[in-house]
Amino acid sequence: MKQDMIVILDLGSTKNTDIARQIRDMGVYSEIHPHDITPGQLKGLENVKGIVLNGGENRVVDGALVDIDPAIYECGYPILAIDHPTAKCERNLEELPDEAPLKEFVFDVCQASANWNMKNFIADQVELIRRQVEDRKVLLALSGGVDSSVVAALLIKAIGNQLVCVHVNHGLMRKNESESVIEVFKNQLHANLIYVDATDRFLGKLEGVADPEKKRKIIGGEFIRVFEEEARKLEGIDFLGQGTIYPDIIESGTKTAKMVKSHHNVGGLPEDLKFELVEPLKQLFKDEVRACGVELGLPESMVYRQPFPGPGLGVRCLGAITRDRLEAVRESDAILREEFAKAGLDKKVWQYFTVVPDFKSVGVKNNARCFDYMVIIRAINTVDAMSASVERVDWDVLQRITDRILDEVGNVNRVCFDMSPKPPATIEFE
Ligand code: XMP
Repeated sequence: MKQDMIVILDLGSTKNTDIARQIRDMGVYSEIHPHDITPGQLKGLENVKGIVLNGGENRVVDGALVDIDPAIYECGYPILAIDHPTAKCERNLEELPDEAPLKEFVFDVCQASANWNMKNFIADQVELIRRQVEDRKVLLALSGGVDSSVVAALLIKAIGNQLVCVHVNHGLMRKNESESVIEVFKNQLHANLIYVDATDRFLGKLEGVADPEKKRKIIGGEFIRVFEEEARKLEGIDFLGQGTIYPDIIESGTKTAKMVKSHHNVGGLPEDLKFELVEPLKQLFKDEVRACGVELGLPESMVYRQPFPGPGLGVRCLGAITRDRLEAVRESDAILREEFAKAGLDKKVWQYFTVVPDFKSVGVKNNARCFDYMVIIRAINTVDAMSASVERVDWDVLQRITDRILDEVGNVNRVCFDMSPKPPATIEFE
């Protein structure tokens, strides 16, 4: 990393991430490090221009005050203290700084240069990846999600065909999703892409399984097995590319997060498949990952796509998955996305999708009784997915979507809109 850096030492404040963001938005790179970093470790970081200390509400752990190694004060770096008054610092601020004093600290006191931008980041990473990988090969599970797509584009730029991408279609992808992965990566970026259509295998394993956690475990476990089988067929792979991003790194440092649902990402490969990791996005926040993707030339539809769970439509085809209901989820989701885009809601609403429950209701079609499925529309806004509110979708838009679903999707006779915030509901249904 050639860019100047401001280090934030983590004394337990929940505002550290906001401060790092504030500094990066000024064009200066910033990283959060643990409070017990040693002077040696700190000096080992490149281009550190100054330190921010932020105490705050979580500074007392088990009755003791968390503090930094006093030797850090003697290292010669300018230090700004927020909510942690100490006589040894250049400046003390009582709360989250507004732009002006933080800017003054970063530029006037630390003399940092505003050289943090995506062009420089990409140039740096390309060099680092080439240095790490040399003439060897990297394997990457390319799901088509934002993070894996941006990692793939970055690795293609750095090492071209030394990257082997594996795209596993578990049959639970949204409409045209696998096709667009193939179009962008194989046809446009000429990636070395292995496409595995494992639809029958996944649906076979999931047959008759109604319990949400069991479904998630089967999908996650099977995904690793398919990926592993592909990896074993290949020779001379030394590295595994991963779309780890900065929030993953920050979050793995907390001990309080409770599991509500098991999330799946590629991990848990067997011991005998030993790879060294390549994680070129591990310093980036999500919006920086997107900016990086745009800079690398990925289509906006890929870079700005809404979050999509690893188990895909599998957790939206509620209960035991059947092909007819899976098709109803996929088709109704495609209609919802098309109509939201037409209404400009795709840029406004954080996440929107449809689910199909595993029961039927009575209706009437062509003057005859029918017994068909129901589509539920969900559209929510959130900052961090921990809590969510429901988007007040315009009635006419909802009516148009309903008409199209009833008209175009087979086996459906009813459309509902989910009005539940999180909590008590979760965003997904399973
Ligand atoms: P819940 O349903 O827990 O969802 O309120 C919170 C956010 O997480 C997404 N989600 C997942 N993302 N793997 C993922 O990468 C998963 O297994 C998974 N399950 C839920 C969900 O879509 C929402 O944005």
